[in-house]
Amino acid sequence: SEIQEDEDFRPNFHFSPKENWMNDPNGMFYKDGTYHLYFQHYPDDNVWGPMHWGHATSKDMVKWEEQPIAIYPDSLGYIFSGSAVVDKNNTSGFAKDGKVPVVAIYTYHDMDGEKDGRLDYQYQAIAYSLDDGKTFTKYEGNPVIPSTGIKDFRDPKVSWDAEHKQWLMSLAAGQEIIFYSSKNLKDWKELSRFGEGIGNHNGVWECPDLFPLKVDGSGEEKWVLLVSINPGGPNEGSATQYFIGDFDGKTFKVDDDFKQNIEEEHDYWVDFGKDNYAGVTWSNIPDEDGRKLFLGWMSNWLYGQEVPTETWRSAMTIAREIKLIDYNGELRLISSPVRELNTYEDKGIAKSDLEVSGKILFADSSSVDLSSVIVRYSIDSLNDGYQIILENGSGDELVIGYEKDNNEFYVDRSNSGRTDFSEKFTNKISTAPRIDSSAIHNATLILDAASMEIFFDDGKNVMTEIFFPKQPYTQLSIKAEDGSLKLNTFSAKNIHLQTDK
Ligand code: FRU
Repeated sequence: SEIQEDEDFRPNFHFSPKENWMNDPNGMFYKDGTYHLYFQHYPDDNVWGPMHWGHATSKDMVKWEEQPIAIYPDSLGYIFSGSAVVDKNNTSGFAKDGKVPVVAIYTYHDMDGEKDGRLDYQYQAIAYSLDDGKTFTKYEGNPVIPSTGIKDFRDPKVSWDAEHKQWLMSLAAGQEIIFYSSKNLKDWKELSRFGEGIGNHNGVWECPDLFPLKVDGSGEEKWVLLVSINPGGPNEGSATQYFIGDFDGKTFKVDDDFKQNIEEEHDYWVDFGKDNYAGVTWSNIPDEDGRKLFLGWMSNWLYGQEVPTETWRSAMTIAREIKLIDYNGELRLISSPVRELNTYEDKGIAKSDLEVSGKILFADSSSVDLSSVIVRYSIDSLNDGYQIILENGSGDELVIGYEKDNNEFYVDRSNSGRTDFSEKFTNKISTAPRIDSSAIHNATLILDAASMEIFFDDGKNVMTEIFFPKQPYTQLSIKAEDGSLKLNTFSAKNIHLQTDK
């Protein structure tokens, strides 16, 4: 059979643009039963270029429908990443005929300014929509935050800070985050800066997001700051780090414990894989729902523009719920796929009490479609290394594993299929130090046509990686590294969206 091409690599249940280039998710908000997702988009080519905001909508964050482009570049520049809020109380004054304004806040990138070698080519602007995010009118008073002369000055993430009754913006500036506040989304005042001397600084800081989150199972509320960094990720290239602390309405300060842990080199990454970048959270999720919902760009700037699809490029991660937990006295961010995904579960296999010695075939294409499946397993005592191996009979294999001696998870895609497009794609096996310290172990693995997302130990470690097999994977095996492994449960359920690709 033929080698896989563009449409074969197209995800079955992750968002991808119909055509051409996509990077960061932007402006995610929820309103009246609809989740909105905008994205960095160059509609005229399959590589990065003049940025627009593409648009997609969904009722459940799983099944997406692409919409017409929402924001176009203009004489002030390309439309870079940013956010959107629902201005219920019309603080901006943009409401008209009783229509609630949705206000987008984004960065203008002035290409000419950059070419001329100036440093003031990024500034922040707003646009409003009176038709629930379909079309936007740019504010005539733009920019709302002029350049400060800091070269990388971008990605405004705004949310309503209910506790301090203000619109709160986090903005990346070089290798710091600047916080601003506003009453009307037009006039912004700097509150404070964060980042000096803490966290990973081996790259530019981008796409921040600051929000309160309850510690799961307790009444305690903390503030979490997400910061994407490129390069500098734990497995090279792009990745998203996080910080936990308190915010008093002006200043974000990490906990002393957190600071100490970071100095002792505890790793605080939203995802340890190579392919989850620039992720932020949805705004305006109703209180009754109460979840913090997140999604990222499923690629990496190391090779994102070279992956072997031509007509479209890149997909988003599955939408995820993120939570804060107190684990052995240490606060950690964990993630899991949104529960809405479960509603698409179809036939598959389920087994329990299985002894694995050596390599055992668990699922093949006669029972499950390994290009659209959710796999779950649990192990009573993780006293041996193991591997999950995906194969296609054409010699391609993707290996996900746990290494006992180093106590590390890893993903090895060096023989996963087409890898020749960039040496950065395979030059290093991704690893993640296991965070959970108990013998009990579980994982949820989401496989689409060209991506895997694994949530180890209830999401304490997450690894997201893309791959391009020459033929679809048809076999999933489990291998015990040394002796034997006892699987408590194992299941593989097809995800079936009942939609044309
Ligand atoms: C992150 C990023 C953002 C910027 C956008 C440009 O991937 O570099 O900082 O706004 O992409 O497309």
